[in-house]
Amino acid sequence: MLQESLIGSYNFNVLRALLESLDLLKTQAGAEIGVFDGGTSWYLLRSFPQLRLFGVDPYLAYPEYDQSRMRQAEQTAVDRLAQFGERSIRIKESSVSAAKAIPEECLDFVFVDGDHTYDAVVEDIKAWYPKVHAGGLFCGHDYSWGAFIVLSMSL
Ligand SMILES: C[S@@+](CC[C@H](N)C(=O)[O-])C[C@H]1O[C@@H](n2cnc3c(N)ncnc32)[C@H](O)[C@@H]1O
Repeated sequence: MLQESLIGSYNFNVLRALLESLDLLKTQAGAEIGVFDGGTSWYLLRSFPQLRLFGVDPYLAYPEYDQSRMRQAEQTAVDRLAQFGERSIRIKESSVSAAKAIPEECLDFVFVDGDHTYDAVVEDIKAWYPKVHAGGLFCGHDYSWGAFIVLSMSL
């Protein structure tokens, strides 16, 4: 279980502050692309009691982690997010495929933190930017290591 003492170590609080500053405190629908062990999802769901969060992750092995590590991360996410019930909507698919089922302009925010290769990020932006309504937040993580960047505010 994550504790308050971890806040900040993954820049969770930066994302929350951005949402608050955009008057999205009553944030109701968002998506996290790349969930891993659910740390950020847990924090967002805990911070925004009305939030329904789409958590998109195919949990396939990639250079940093083998399949066994990914299974472990998925199980941690499942256990960690169970307490939020139907507010946590897990989509075990790749980002671009999952986006097809999401209507346009229906989300308050999208947080991109999936496949960090250039081409994949371009595809994530193309697939998910249209899902954010006017005035919402489209942002991502790891633009450079350790950095959190807001790619754009959807206008
Ligand atoms: C850096 S981790 C995410 C960390 C998480 N956002 C957090 O803050 O705790 C990257 C995740 O992206 C996932 N991923 C890789 N390719 C993906 C894709 N095409 N679509 C969605 N997620 C993907 C990986 O499985 C991995 O769990």
